[in-house]
Amino acid sequence: MTEELKKRIAVIDAALNDYLPVCDKPQGIIYDAMRYSVFAGGKRLRPMLMWECAKLLGGDWDTVRPFACALEMIHTYSLIHDDLPAMDNDDLRRGMPTSHIKFGEDIAILAGDALLNKAFETVAAADHADAAIAIRAMGVLSNASGTEGMIGGQVIDLKSEGKEIAIAELQHLHLLKTGALIRAACVIGGMLAGADDKELDSLDSFAKALGVAFQIQDDILDVTGDEETLGKPIGSDAEQDKNTYVRLCGLDRSKQLVEKYSKDASEALKGFGNKAEFLNKLTEYLINRNN
Ligand code: IPE
Ligand code: IPE
Ligand code: MG
Ligand code: MG
Ligand code: MG
Repeated sequence: MTEELKKRIAVIDAALNDYLPVCDKPQGIIYDAMRYSVFAGGKRLRPMLMWECAKLLGGDWDTVRPFACALEMIHTYSLIHDDLPAMDNDDLRRGMPTSHIKFGEDIAILAGDALLNKAFETVAAADHADAAIAIRAMGVLSNASGTEGMIGGQVIDLKSEGKEIAIAELQHLHLLKTGALIRAACVIGGMLAGADDKELDSLDSFAKALGVAFQIQDDILDVTGDEETLGKPIGSDAEQDKNTYVRLCGLDRSKQLVEKYSKDASEALKGFGNKAEFLNKLTEYLINRNN
């Protein structure tokens, strides 16, 4: 699995490099900051999911290339802003000093903003086989990134610091802050490859369960992980008095829930038969990851 992942990451990184070239204009530092965070590493989970969901429906990398890169740009922007002193106040990301440590808060904020804009510029400029589907996919992307998706989740996350929320609220928080972009990855992948509504529903159910499992594992790693392997600080959630699955239900129950949601995820793909093998293996890999 790791060799296969490495191969796919190389393809994704080459495309990102095309969309985000080095630039020596007077404002060049903004390009440096965008590239710094995008190429610091990262599992490229979201582009990988989009690609594989398209493959399930007969598409290929070219079917999703601009959307997959746009989603990774939006994800990276969300990480740059998530690490800011005003948010999680973290100084390590993808094994490197965070953007605001390296470039200052002003440029870090702008680098996040610039990646968000670049994402939509990228999908708008691309040639799509079916313009109507591409516009629909852009709608999914912007909705998932916004107040009903990732940003909504980040707001609930920040505003519930220091108070204990119910488990149902925490699940909702995870579904938005992390689940939304993962769902967008899978739904857009299917959509661009011509999936029908039933197939999109299955992909969405898969992604919903995977998104929650993925964020619970992220919460677990914040407690049990190793900073060097994880590439981000350990104990950040406790320091910020965050609501996490580990805090609300303990480590053992959290691990059980990761298993439960990952089973739900695989269950949702049953209708695709053997074609879903890579997605099932990827799910297994993600829930057992240590970075
Ligand atoms: C980190 O996402 C933030 C969460 C939503 C949990 P990833 O774990 O996918 O981070 P990278 O892209 O690999 O750095
Ligand atoms: C953030 O969740 C999810 C985003 C939308 C960026 P976390 O705050 O738990 O992510 P990490 O642990 O800093 O990567
Ligand atoms: Mg956060
Ligand atoms: Mg954080
Ligand atoms: Mg975390």
